[in-house]
Amino acid sequence: MPDKTPVLVLDDDLIVLKSLSEFLRLEGYQVRAAETLEQARNLLGSERFRVAITDVRLPEGSGFDLLSQVRELNLPTAVIMLTGYGTIEDAVTAIKMGAFDYVTKPIADDEVKLTVERALQQQQLLEENNDLRRQLNMTFQVDNFVCCNPRMKRVLDMVNVMSATDATVLITGESGTGKTLVARAIHMNSPRAGQPFVEVSCGTLPETLLESELFGHVKGAFSGAVANKRGRFEAAHKGTLFLDEISLASPSLQMKLLRVLESFKFEPVGSNDTREVDVRLILATNQDLAELVQQEEFREDLYYRVNVMNITLPPLRERRDEIPPLAHHFVEKYRSSARQDIKGINEDAMRLLTGYDWPGNVRELENVMQRAVLLARAPYITAEDISVDQAPPEEPLLPDGKVVPLKKAMKRVERKLILKALEATDGNRKEAARQLEVNRTTLYNKLHEYDIMDA
Ligand SMILES: Nc1ncnc2c1ncn2[C@@H]1O[C@H](COP(=O)(O)OP(=O)(O)O)[C@@H](O)[C@H]1O
Ligand SMILES: [Mg+2]
Repeated sequence: MPDKTPVLVLDDDLIVLKSLSEFLRLEGYQVRAAETLEQARNLLGSERFRVAITDVRLPEGSGFDLLSQVRELNLPTAVIMLTGYGTIEDAVTAIKMGAFDYVTKPIADDEVKLTVERALQQQQLLEENNDLRRQLNMTFQVDNFVCCNPRMKRVLDMVNVMSATDATVLITGESGTGKTLVARAIHMNSPRAGQPFVEVSCGTLPETLLESELFGHVKGAFSGAVANKRGRFEAAHKGTLFLDEISLASPSLQMKLLRVLESFKFEPVGSNDTREVDVRLILATNQDLAELVQQEEFREDLYYRVNVMNITLPPLRERRDEIPPLAHHFVEKYRSSARQDIKGINEDAMRLLTGYDWPGNVRELENVMQRAVLLARAPYITAEDISVDQAPPEEPLLPDGKVVPLKKAMKRVERKLILKALEATDGNRKEAARQLEVNRTTLYNKLHEYDIMDA
């Protein structure tokens, strides 16, 4: 029998209130009885209850007000509603609003007893689940998220704070800095952890397909739409939707996103049927959204909507102190694929790693270490196994055949040509400028813009 489990009872009918309280006390519960909604609200605010039993119809309001309070404050309290005989709508509403169960009046003691016991059992399961999740998250952070730099520690603190809220988060950082990892960490630490984490990149699909991917479509909405399709927003219901490369969203998609962010409502492509979802949004970008707003390439109103809480991940070259622990972490991660047992990384190799600029950030370091582990002839990884002096792997111009913005593509080509020219002229900028047929100032500016000053 539960030992002094705190239970709150609210009923304006004093006879019901008294007999129900008395019965529960005899059953061993610690009962607080409230005659009015106000009393019950105050009690809920100041004490912790495992179960609240409330009448639906009250003179100053309804039991649903109490239920709302429990849900708004996210209290660990199961709510059981007392509904009048024959008011089935009340019962349905109660369950829809998240009540644990309802008991119809006139109340049978046994029924109350069983319902309370079931509620407590469910509470316990939920709590065990939460504990487990908390433990998992601890290992998640300690094992998989290398973090020692003060700026990154602050990032992790932010992850914890943001996990506790439902607020939209914007993660900014160069490619490979850990944006996806952080988005997952927020989800995993949030109350939505048991629900889906759905990831969509705005850069991978052409406009119309992306919209149907996100919002779904109805049969016949466009050629190829042979059946109704549920979108990713719906797939993420109750969970988290991670929208990557948000800067690549088309104007039309930006408009739709703005509406979803404001109301969580949308229509599938080709349909007038409005859907509503409960989704937590996390967005990521490797571009400066504020700058894109200035260039009128990104909606200002959407920017303000998504920029409520933001996390900026510094590039790896600005947190070099993390290179050694990260390198060791990746050796650990891939060591089982090595030919022999690898004990570590030698000094020369480490000097090479810490001196390199890592334009591809942590992802590039991971790739380099994975390769090094494969190549190493043990027991220590040497400089020979580290292949960073080669130009970093370039992103293909048309990854998966996707269309990229012209400006961005041109920049990549430009950067490549400049690097080629510098290579061909042994770093002689004057000569490189001549070959590229630009003046030296232009070249200098571009070297700066593309971060190849030291190349
Ligand atoms: N702090 C970190 N600790 C451990 N692994 C990391 C860390 N940051 C990034 N990674 C790893 O580096 C790779 C790239 O990270 P990712 O989150 O995909 O970057 P982004 O989304 O910014 O491009 C992933 O395999 C990720 O697990
Ligand atoms: Mg990513």
